[in-house]
Amino acid sequence: MDNKIKTLKHKREQAQAGGGITRIESQHKKGKLTARERLHFLMDEGSFQEIGMLVTHRSTDFGMQTEKYPGDGVVTGYGTINGRLVYVYSQDFTVFGGSLSETHAEKICKIMELALKNGAPVVGLNDSGGARIQEGVVSLGGYADIFYRNTMASGVVPQISAIMGPCAGGAVYSPAITDFILMVEHTSYMFVTGPNVVKTVTHEIVTSEELGGANTHASKSGVTHFACVNEIDAIQHIKKLLSYMPQNCEDKAPALPYEPTNELRPELNDVLPQTAQQPYDVREIIAHLIDTDSFLEVHKDFAENIVVGFARLAGRSIGIIANQPAFLAGVLDRHSSTKGARFVRFCDSFNIPLLVIEDVPGFLPGTDQEWNAIITNGAKLLYAFCEATVPRVTVITRKAYGGAYDVMNSKHIGADMNFAWPSAEIAVMGAKGAAEIIFKREINQAEDPEAKWREKEQLYSDIFANPYRAAERGFIDEVIEPSETRLKLIHAFKMLENKVVNNPRKKHGNIPL
Ligand code: COA
Repeated sequence: MDNKIKTLKHKREQAQAGGGITRIESQHKKGKLTARERLHFLMDEGSFQEIGMLVTHRSTDFGMQTEKYPGDGVVTGYGTINGRLVYVYSQDFTVFGGSLSETHAEKICKIMELALKNGAPVVGLNDSGGARIQEGVVSLGGYADIFYRNTMASGVVPQISAIMGPCAGGAVYSPAITDFILMVEHTSYMFVTGPNVVKTVTHEIVTSEELGGANTHASKSGVTHFACVNEIDAIQHIKKLLSYMPQNCEDKAPALPYEPTNELRPELNDVLPQTAQQPYDVREIIAHLIDTDSFLEVHKDFAENIVVGFARLAGRSIGIIANQPAFLAGVLDRHSSTKGARFVRFCDSFNIPLLVIEDVPGFLPGTDQEWNAIITNGAKLLYAFCEATVPRVTVITRKAYGGAYDVMNSKHIGADMNFAWPSAEIAVMGAKGAAEIIFKREINQAEDPEAKWREKEQLYSDIFANPYRAAERGFIDEVIEPSETRLKLIHAFKMLENKVVNNPRKKHGNIPL
């Protein structure tokens, strides 16, 4: 037996060694951790249980039968993060550049299947040179097997992808299907085709970082939800992100203990600027409403005219969608609509209640928006809210103009509680523009058109630039003092805790993609 145990120990040591010390050193020199080091920082101490440590590839072409590494370039298994079960895979760049072989893919599929059967999140740490070139089509088949399982798991268990090195070609589509992508600045990139191909095809000269680095995808494309300063930062973000989520779609997100105290926030009575045209940062309002320092902003640098993220209210997880008057006056455009829609759908999939903070002057006009399908993209946000069955609460702080009023979680599309501050202006458009249209003739014929315009603007404003017309109709459930907002929200979400809504039975809806 001693000899047999010795053999086992030797095999385990071989697997632990990955691609060997030289390649590990080279990985460290690039500022990257190894697959196992990443798992060490991610998982609760001593909790990680490896599966498939001794798997090797089956390839025989190009002399591959003589080059085998136990584990075949990916460490897979399960363990806990903050005490909760999570399935993980971590690609090992020191073994064939973390490239995906048939068996490497099988290992990932195996843990995804376990995650689905047992209802727990999957976290993927990606660091790979793509399809194992020596294996050809079986490697491509392996990718497709993963994509299929990602899709089947979508909406059943949370899926998180951290990109900690290269992720190119077909490899990008697994993370793209998952719920959240995190990238590490300067050491990771994602693109369908790299700079060399780009140069040949479009004659553009661009670096990997410019084409598909963390900051590019965090701000320009929105592909990544978080750009992290280093790998440890990315790992901390994964842990924090998971803390707001339930284990699966049948579960509720864990609540932190909360002792009720004085929930009034007098500061909110003075948070808005003097005039409705002045910008302010909606994060200030969010900070006063939620439990201290509990906001985790998602997609912070992308489509900044809408702010989305997770927070806690009286200990419970909520998802916040807020127009951001500090950026483009908080208008809805194609990117902010898509960003909002994706977030709403994640929260709805995983039973996380939604809070909307609304101050929106409408949709952004222009050829860029129209030609790039603001109609279809705006419809995504509308659709996402319409079909969401989680508790939904809206607070209108200032402007709620036009179609954007309907879209931003209005009563009409299924919101449960709609509050407005006395400063709310719920109208088809701003008073100035409205007066110009409906009193055009009177203004043009007046001795002093400018004065007439102002007079009519005031008239329209007196009638509509307030929340009371909407409150009279019941479109607003309560007009509240800003200082009372947190208290009202706590009561509303508590009241809605056991909400059940069943949308009509269907195979699946057809969201305008
Ligand atoms: N298949 C098999 N082996 C691969 C591989 C792949 N797709 N990608 C990288 N490797 C191997 C390399 O042969 C090298 O092996 P070695 O350690 O035995 O020398 C090791 O992984 C590291 O690769 P290297 O090129 O030295 O690392 P790098 O950091 O300089 O570059 C990449 C990384 C990903 C940019 C580069 O390896 C690359 O372009 N890979 C191919 C990408 C690709 O076209 N994939 C297929 C389509 S999806």
